[in-house]
Amino acid sequence: MRERGEFLDEYLSHNSIDCLHINFPDPWSKKAKRKHRILSTEYLTKMHPFFRSEGKLCFKTDHLEYFQTVTGILNKLNSYTIDQYTEDLHQSKYATGNILTEFEMLFKSKGNPPIGYLRAKALREK
Ligand SMILES: C[S@@+](CC[C@H](N)C(=O)[O-])C[C@H]1O[C@@H](n2cnc3c(N)ncnc32)[C@H](O)[C@@H]1O
Repeated sequence: MRERGEFLDEYLSHNSIDCLHINFPDPWSKKAKRKHRILSTEYLTKMHPFFRSEGKLCFKTDHLEYFQTVTGILNKLNSYTIDQYTEDLHQSKYATGNILTEFEMLFKSKGNPPIGYLRAKALREK
């Protein structure tokens, strides 16, 4: 399906996501444009009910500031817990089993800059 990730909630039911992969989204580097980032407090809060219990969000980016900002957001939200984290995916234990995206392959051929990777579990209230 070709659709903006912001509208995923319009197509899915609650408790339906096992794993949501967000790979190298546009980092909107300029401060004034950061409001366009897909991963924000609002988006993660909106999407939370769509995860199954312990459903996973996987996020990869080469943009360290974006990576750290999303990490901070997830740490503040009580509804997610980060269980895998590295700021240099290809040099980490998570490299085994990592599936390279098209963008990641391109990176590898262009000096292989560090890639941030995290996995967060969506928690349900007991
Ligand atoms: C840097 S590329 C990464 C492509 C691919 N995920 C990969 O890792 O090879 C960024 C992609 O995100 C898409 N994109 C940008 N904003 C988006 C959004 N709001 N929702 C879904 N896709 C988006 C662009 O069309 C582009 O294909």
